[in-house]
Amino acid sequence: MVNRVGPIGVFDSGYGGLTILRQIHKAMPQYDYLYLGDNARAPYGTRSFDVVYEFTLQAVRYLFGQGCHLVILACNTASAKALRTIQQKDLPHLAPQRRVLGVIRPTVEVVSSISQTRHVGIMATPGTIRSRTYELEIAKLSPDIQVTGEACPMWVPLVENEEYDSPGADYFVRTRIENLLSCDPLIDSVILGCTHYPLLLGKIHQYMPQGVHVIEQGNYVAQSLKDYLERHPEMKEHITTGGTTRFLTTEQAEAFQAKAVVFMGETKLDASQQLVAERIFLK
Ligand code: DGL
Repeated sequence: MVNRVGPIGVFDSGYGGLTILRQIHKAMPQYDYLYLGDNARAPYGTRSFDVVYEFTLQAVRYLFGQGCHLVILACNTASAKALRTIQQKDLPHLAPQRRVLGVIRPTVEVVSSISQTRHVGIMATPGTIRSRTYELEIAKLSPDIQVTGEACPMWVPLVENEEYDSPGADYFVRTRIENLLSCDPLIDSVILGCTHYPLLLGKIHQYMPQGVHVIEQGNYVAQSLKDYLERHPEMKEHITTGGTTRFLTTEQAEAFQAKAVVFMGETKLDASQQLVAERIFLK
């Protein structure tokens, strides 16, 4: 690993991380970004710990090999199941000067200032819910908050298959929200703990009772990263500032390009405004 400078790496199992990249890019358009979506092996949300860890480590190694000194796991499932092990076990010998950050901690940090009732709901993939990472992280920062998790196994497939606006999506969004709030009717804040869910936001707001705050994590993750870079000038020095964004996928590049445009919204990528993806293979 000889590169001394490179882009910020942003990783997700598929398209969801683009909702995070979009916000990071908005907050810091000056940096170069390298996005990697492991679309060939998504979704991760129903996979075991070992598999998510192994796949995520492969992606991190790849991004390090591309010159990234800082990699953001823009995936709650990977942040919940692989981040800690990579930080504690792998980084010290793999690349002690490089950093891998997740999306859960920055999200958890804002919960305390939002919830009045101190009853908070988490909607996420089965893997994230089963890991109990959100509960554990919230307990460290705000032990008075009672957390209830709701696994939403159909939400990522709805988004990946472009069914997020369909009548079928109404059923799955409504039933999960009803189920969560029937488990704890005092919930006043719900964290969307999956980077795919912003695409279901219209329907989530439609079925969430008024007065329940929906916490979308993209902006919080972006602000937290900005703070991090302010506090770590030594890391900032390793990031190139050409204002470009490159996209890598483990599936077909054309399919990725077509869908990624939807996830990136109005984001201005570079002078050409073209979203071009390149296919790679992870191992
Ligand atoms: N985007 C991932 C997350 O935030 C989930 C998608 C998947 O299941 O692969 O958890």
